[in-house]
Amino acid sequence: MAQTPLADAPLADAIVLFGATGDLSRRMLLPSLYFLDADGLLPLGFKVLATARAQLSRDAFVDQVRKILDARPEAIDDGVWARFAKRLDYVACDATAPEGAAALKPHLDGSTRPMFFLAISPSLYGRVCAALAASGLATAESRIVLEKPIGRDLASSREVNEAVGAVFNEDRIFRIDHYLGKETVQNLIALRFANTLFEPLWNNLTIDHVQITVAETEGVGERWPYYDEYGALRDMLQNHMLQLLCFVAMEPPADMDPRSVRNEKVKVLRSLRRFTRADAQNASIRGQYTKGVVAGKEAAGYETERGQPTGTETFAALRVDIDNWRWAGVPFFLRTGKRLPERRTQIVIQFKPVPHSIFGNAAKDDLVANRLVIDLQPDEDIELLLMNKAPGISRGGMRLQSLPLSLSLLRAYEGPGSRRRIAYERLLLDVIHGNSTLFVRRDEVEEAWRWVDGVAEAWAEAGMAPKPYAAGSWGPPGAFALIERSERAWLD
Ligand code: BG6
Repeated sequence: MAQTPLADAPLADAIVLFGATGDLSRRMLLPSLYFLDADGLLPLGFKVLATARAQLSRDAFVDQVRKILDARPEAIDDGVWARFAKRLDYVACDATAPEGAAALKPHLDGSTRPMFFLAISPSLYGRVCAALAASGLATAESRIVLEKPIGRDLASSREVNEAVGAVFNEDRIFRIDHYLGKETVQNLIALRFANTLFEPLWNNLTIDHVQITVAETEGVGERWPYYDEYGALRDMLQNHMLQLLCFVAMEPPADMDPRSVRNEKVKVLRSLRRFTRADAQNASIRGQYTKGVVAGKEAAGYETERGQPTGTETFAALRVDIDNWRWAGVPFFLRTGKRLPERRTQIVIQFKPVPHSIFGNAAKDDLVANRLVIDLQPDEDIELLLMNKAPGISRGGMRLQSLPLSLSLLRAYEGPGSRRRIAYERLLLDVIHGNSTLFVRRDEVEEAWRWVDGVAEAWAEAGMAPKPYAAGSWGPPGAFALIERSERAWLD
């Protein structure tokens, strides 16, 4: 297909939302589209064609969307709603069949550059793409947006990528990792590359280690049919956590061009040290929650939710080593889990201690190494812990204390009318504009799977079953042992 280079392509003129009655569409996508419209960011005449199998009239669908918006905390503006409702259309169809896809055509009148958003089971991606091609809807200028998981391992991710790639060129494929739409993840790029302060220190000469925590209080609940196949390693680590690691570890890209940024991320993924059976035992732990108490409420164990015993991990912690010049000898400790005591996504950059203390005995125990703490959620905050003199005078010399220099992003949301954006707003807007910097390229997904497959194999070789942990705790005791083995500790 003859194609305009993506960067020069005109804006998308419609979105076709597959799975429009599903959870993702209701919670994230339809509200995001409304908010983009409210901010004047949807192109003139941009159509929102929703589709799912459910037999619904257009009017009934529009009513549903209004109810979804009304249930949100933000105020809905009637003028914006009237404009947004005009864009909405609904077609019930089976999009995996060419006749189904063809039924969409008359509703896309005049659109030459639609973006197809697949908010459906990844097992259907290939068939929907084939149907879009057979019905003539997939044109050279259309775009396709895919949600994770792209496969369950390297082999299956390749199959999905092949099937989608048979219809769409790589630069028209937008693989979403919704973490990249989060304000704070993008802020990490600003923090690293818009300040002269950090970059000269960002290496193994000054940094002792890095911790990345993604803790959730929610359990798996009704999602077990999906989750049981994936577990924490494939559900969180393969994508969100490795992406965070890439943004911390990558070399400065030449610019924000998609190719520049994604090339640097791939280099990091290729430098991850492959896990061995010995690493599985010494440098990782799998866990599964049993019943306990989270935020004052009793919570059932995963086995009870699942209805039978299962070997799926709901917690994983790993030591990751990056074999390159910048990071040699700097371990990255990653942990993620469900039913932990609090919801927290956090990156901690722990600097090395000063090489020599001039402060004498009184301050011997006061001296703490600098630390940069980046909170991504629920609060967005960046704190740099710096040593300074404790106020006052004391016998035996100066006392020291560690105090945070804080860049609280909460303040940015305090003004009237300001609100925290849904990560999908940024991402949908980028697809409309054809900017794929914040999307995951095929080789990135595959490199991430290659490494994750190595971890899964090492776990299997070492016969590592998940260790139980009570809901509401910070995972099995092995999670602490794993970091303490290198004389470090989780920085809670
Ligand atoms: C999803 C995972 O990708 O991310 C879920 O499938 C997880 O299991 C969710 O709960 C976490 O996203 P967020 O934005 O709430 O941190």
